[in-house]
Amino acid sequence: MAPVRTVGILGGTGPAGRGLGTRLAAAGFEVVLGSRVQERAAEAAAALVAQGLSGVRGASNEAAASASLVVVATPWDGAIATARDLRGALSGKVVVSMVNALARFGTEFHALVPVRGSFAATLQAVLPEARVAAAFHHLPAGPLADLSQPIEADVLVCADDREAAETTIAMTDQMEGLRGVYAGSLASANALETLTAVLLNVNRRYKTHASLRLTGINPER
Ligand SMILES: NC(=O)c1ccc[n+]([C@@H]2O[C@H](COP(=O)([O-])OP(=O)(O)OC[C@H]3O[C@@H](n4cnc5c(N)ncnc54)[C@H](OP(=O)(O)O)[C@@H]3O)[C@@H](O)[C@H]2O)c1
Repeated sequence: MAPVRTVGILGGTGPAGRGLGTRLAAAGFEVVLGSRVQERAAEAAAALVAQGLSGVRGASNEAAASASLVVVATPWDGAIATARDLRGALSGKVVVSMVNALARFGTEFHALVPVRGSFAATLQAVLPEARVAAAFHHLPAGPLADLSQPIEADVLVCADDREAAETTIAMTDQMEGLRGVYAGSLASANALETLTAVLLNVNRRYKTHASLRLTGINPER
């Protein structure tokens, strides 16, 4: 698979999309922040360009879907319809889902689990010609967007298509402080999505922005 140069982000105007877009642009990727409303995308992109990240532009979600790799960064209740509408443009591409579905019960976050086990697996079902990977669920948007602070985290990546996983891992490894780690097929994406509720409960208790770092991995093996 050719190395990724341009990353389109569906729902790229939200904190998650802007945060990931910031780190991708800082790593030298061209980034297209997508939106349902072009002006909103232009505004979000202009804010990143003002920080010196020249490779960022705003566009419609349709235009963002023409990038060589596409990230889904909408809320869970809009993700499936957004992706299905772009099925043609996403055909054959690596599509990375960072979608989490959470509900708040009192002071706790609980994960909502769709019938296929995860939103990533549901996306793969509605985009059969795309190569869906699940990743970036545990990266907090605030620290991602703040380039003055280093970020140190592992990004667990699940995909049925091994090349899609390796492409996502290679892209992740280019962002300073992030390490992509293969974590299995989409059958395990449920664990990634539901773990986010746990991390948010940790964040709440310890007033922090926790993310993950695994020990004992030798990347040479
Ligand atoms: N926030 C985090 O720290 C974080 C970290 C990791 C993963 N995530 C996951 O990443 C995704 C985005 O998070 P976020 O906090 O950035 O969410 P958000 O701000 O609620 O939504 C992101 C963008 O999605 C678009 N959108 C909203 N409702 C939509 C709908 N019904 N259909 C299509 N597009 C819609 C909006 O863009 P336009 O109005 O411009 O189209 C919005 O700016 C979520 O699934 C979240 O669980 C979040």
